Amino acid sequence: MKILILNGSPRPDGNTAAMVGAYKAGAESAGHSVTVYNVCRMNIKGCLACEYCHTKAFRTCVQKDDMQMIYPALDEADMIVLASPIYYHGFSGQLQCAINRIYAPGYPKKLRKAALLLSSGDKGVYDGAVFAYRNSFLEYLHLEDMGIFTAAGSENKSEELLNGLTAAGAALTDPDDRNVARLVISSGNVTVKARLNNTMAARDLMNRLPMTVTGVDSGIDYCCECGDGALDRSEMQDGWKNGDINLSGGWFAILYGGEEESASYHQMIIAHLTEEDNRLIQTLPGQASFRLSLEEPYRR
Ligand SMILES: Cc1cc2nc3c(=O)[nH]c(=O)nc-3n(C[C@H](O)[C@H](O)[C@H](O)COP(=O)(O)O)c2cc1C
Repeated sequence: MKILILNGSPRPDGNTAAMVGAYKAGAESAGHSVTVYNVCRMNIKGCLACEYCHTKAFRTCVQKDDMQMIYPALDEADMIVLASPIYYHGFSGQLQCAINRIYAPGYPKKLRKAALLLSSGDKGVYDGAVFAYRNSFLEYLHLEDMGIFTAAGSENKSEELLNGLTAAGAALTDPDDRNVARLVISSGNVTVKARLNNTMAARDLMNRLPMTVTGVDSGIDYCCECGDGALDRSEMQDGWKNGDINLSGGWFAILYGGEEESASYHQMIIAHLTEEDNRLIQTLPGQASFRLSLEEPYRR
């Protein structure tokens, strides 16, 4: 998988750099491709809160600085690693600037996993950085936690620490089906699970759940009124496969049939049902309410 590491330490041979080097070596030994950006040596300004990215140019930051290198890497990455010295109980300012600028793309396109590397002088000073990591990355972006690694005082650069990090990097595996979130759809005594994809619309829906939608059977789908939420129009596609779920145009539609005649429809497909679950959906009455929720462990 593609791993993006943001190193927030200004010291090229410092403690954080040593942690990054060990983790990277381990990950590369397992066949992963790792890119490190040393954000302190880049020109990355703080977010201006101008909302250009949400109101004028979708997912595009108005500031043309070195984040322009990180944005494409972020959209390509399967995993992000935040590495930082602890400064005043949080991330370094330079790393925090880069993190805040992720506000423009919002949901990086492929990101599934994350890890955190922290170096400090004292022990027990990680709560601030860990809180930010858990809430802004694991919860908000629905990423799987691949570990929080810390080193205080004399632990920094120790053989034990670096060997542990190399082993952790080497143990990383590609995102697989077990790590894919599923949308739980319940109606009466029928419950099915649809595998969510990584579109912005799917990620945004995850943050809006649980909800209930009601719709009627059109003969090929259950069409339920539902607000779109955030979506990236470039991810829309023509047609659907039987069992796909659409969320666009104000509709949440369980497209259980009609694949052959679907080519002329432009859809945002966010999830897909197994054949068996797709058959179960077709046993429901002509009008049905669906409770939508998120399967564990993604429900938080
Ligand atoms: C501006 C600044 C603030 C710091 N704040 C803390 C702190 O709040 N708690 C702590 O334990 N160490 C603090 N430190 C120490 C660093 O976290 C520690 O030396 C770390 O290992 C440096 O990593 P580096 O070699 O990658 O730069 C601070 C250092 C600096 C320069």
